[in-house]
Amino acid sequence: MRVSDLGSIGDLESPIMPGAIATARGLTLHRLLFNAYEQSMLFLPERPLGEADYRAMAAFYDPALVALGQQVRPALERAAFGALDSYIEASGSWDLGSLIEYLQSAIHEYEQSPSSLVVAIEATPRPRAALLYLLVQQAPDFLSEASAMARAMLGCFGPAQSELMKVFIDEYGYGVHEKKHSTLFAACMRSVGLSDGVHDHYFHYLASSLALVNYFHCVCANKQAWFRYLGALYFTEASIPHFNRQLSRALRRASGHWSTHRTSTNTCTSTSTTVRWCWRPCSRPPYGCTGRRSSPRSSPASRRSVTSKRWLTSTTSRRSPSPTAWPRRPRAGRLCADVAPPTSR
Ligand SMILES: [Fe+2]
Repeated sequence: MRVSDLGSIGDLESPIMPGAIATARGLTLHRLLFNAYEQSMLFLPERPLGEADYRAMAAFYDPALVALGQQVRPALERAAFGALDSYIEASGSWDLGSLIEYLQSAIHEYEQSPSSLVVAIEATPRPRAALLYLLVQQAPDFLSEASAMARAMLGCFGPAQSELMKVFIDEYGYGVHEKKHSTLFAACMRSVGLSDGVHDHYFHYLASSLALVNYFHCVCANKQAWFRYLGALYFTEASIPHFNRQLSRALRRASGHWSTHRTSTNTCTSTSTTVRWCWRPCSRPPYGCTGRRSSPRSSPASRRSVTSKRWLTSTTSRRSPSPTAWPRRPRAGRLCADVAPPTSR
């Protein structure tokens, strides 16, 4: 992050509006947020640590800088996501039945159309290059996959919420590193010649890609947004099969040997099982330690978050560069050479 970029942030009390995310302001906001969230996550290289690594670690996790990031985080979150509430309708009377009906219809509606992103990729003259670019855009999320979720796991709650722990440990391969979802994604990147270093592609990340990752961190980090997290998680897990089926076909068509892609790799648990785990806390009124039912306001919160996540996902698809903006040649294995080292963050 360059100091000169900070000038584009403007007034933090003014939320970024729909359509303005692919701007210098949107990019700077989401890079700052991404950085603040990542300072509470563990990043270690697999190689033996050298002196430079220890210095980089001390700098990145400097307590004063971490505190500064946490201090400014609420204002950054309001600027990044505050506008979602103003144009996503979640009014009316909601109960458990209408929430379940909405959750089911949202997925049914989503599955009626092909993924606009996959369609756009396949329509390009160089779909392989476009698919490489997509993998790079997925990297900020998938190379540390499910880290945001870890923020929502701790505490005292009831059996419905414990179902989510199953989703979490599945993401982490039940402790088997080779089955950890981020390990599978890293293998996918290497299989197509892309660097899998966790920040190697940092300066290629679009604001919309960072927004998707940051949204999950935001709703997981703020416990008052927990019901929004439930809706976002449900929509993500339930919509994955439809998207992945299309992406897997596109990958096979573009390059038959991309068999290590996570979308075509069996993970520990099938997606349908994962959705069932998500479904339980979504579809049953949660209980706290006291055993009392939570407020009925949880329904519109979950519903609002499904809508927010759908909007952000479609924004990511729309904000991908046009085919003419993609590199002339696939830059497999070279993308990392074009960016500054992670210590520059
Ligand atoms: Fe995963």
